[in-house]
Amino acid sequence: MTPSGRFQLLVWRLRLQLRKSELLRWLVSRIRALLPDTRERHLRGEVGFWDRWLATQGLHWPDDYEYRLDPSGAVHEPLASILDSMAKTDLEILDVGAGPLTVIGKTHPGKRLSITATDVLAREYNALLDKFGVSPPVRTQFAEAEKLREQLAGRHFDIVHAQNSLDHSADPMAGIEEMLALTRPGGLVVLIHEENEGQNELYYALHKWDFACEDGHFVVGGPGPDGPRRDVTEMLAGKAEVECWSDGECVYVAVAKKAQAPISSTRSTGRHGSRAPVAAATRR
Ligand SMILES: C[S@@+](CC[C@H](N)C(=O)[O-])C[C@H]1O[C@@H](n2cnc3c(N)ncnc32)[C@H](O)[C@@H]1O
Repeated sequence: MTPSGRFQLLVWRLRLQLRKSELLRWLVSRIRALLPDTRERHLRGEVGFWDRWLATQGLHWPDDYEYRLDPSGAVHEPLASILDSMAKTDLEILDVGAGPLTVIGKTHPGKRLSITATDVLAREYNALLDKFGVSPPVRTQFAEAEKLREQLAGRHFDIVHAQNSLDHSADPMAGIEEMLALTRPGGLVVLIHEENEGQNELYYALHKWDFACEDGHFVVGGPGPDGPRRDVTEMLAGKAEVECWSDGECVYVAVAKKAQAPISSTRSTGRHGSRAPVAAATRR
């Protein structure tokens, strides 16, 4: 392993320890208090991470590097079961906060997939891909989760997906609203995130938000430890059915947009549509 790879591995192990040791959490919070905790600085850090990831072809996740570049890579669960549950053969998928190479597999039996990947750092990521001579199966384009309607004007998708990204955004509630607006009636928003990542990471860097599934309701807390907790399941009632589940590490959320739902605001009560959520079938 290269020195850069070894350093990344050390940082990764420290982050895991951080979740377990109170003393380490206290020490790290003292050190971090000396550094500016600005979003701009941490977005630059994100670019630095992917620079090292591309330079080392995946750091200590070489299989992940290969998978993201494989044009025949199969879609993983829980998305695979969600695709199976959809009647259409041709499915358009949007990945929000995709990074330089979307994590979504490119093929699924019996379906033709058209994947659009977006990220607030798309320009920087595409410069990195050029630097390393990488030709991606899906090129990430610029769009902010909070401004999808404006920046992807007129486009709609069968599935709007975000993995390990929406809880890194400035305003995940706006992001959810935008994602649902771009979802076709009968389609789904699919969210896959670490449970309570803000708590895990001491609300530092891009980790200001906690995503959790509590009593079957999807709850978003933040920003920071004192931010309000919002019951997204209740907020979307009338326009979408929300299912969430957790495997102890990640929170999975499937938001099924009702056929008759208005697309303008999560605060609207809307009318009841006919589509039932499919997430129950995908629980692991
Ligand atoms: C930890 S990376 C995950 C990337 C990818 N989803 C994956 O699972 O590998 C988080 C990504 O979210 C992006 N991001 C953060 N805030 C965003 C926002 N408001 N809109 C779009 N992307 C955002 C970051 O630029 C970064 O690429």
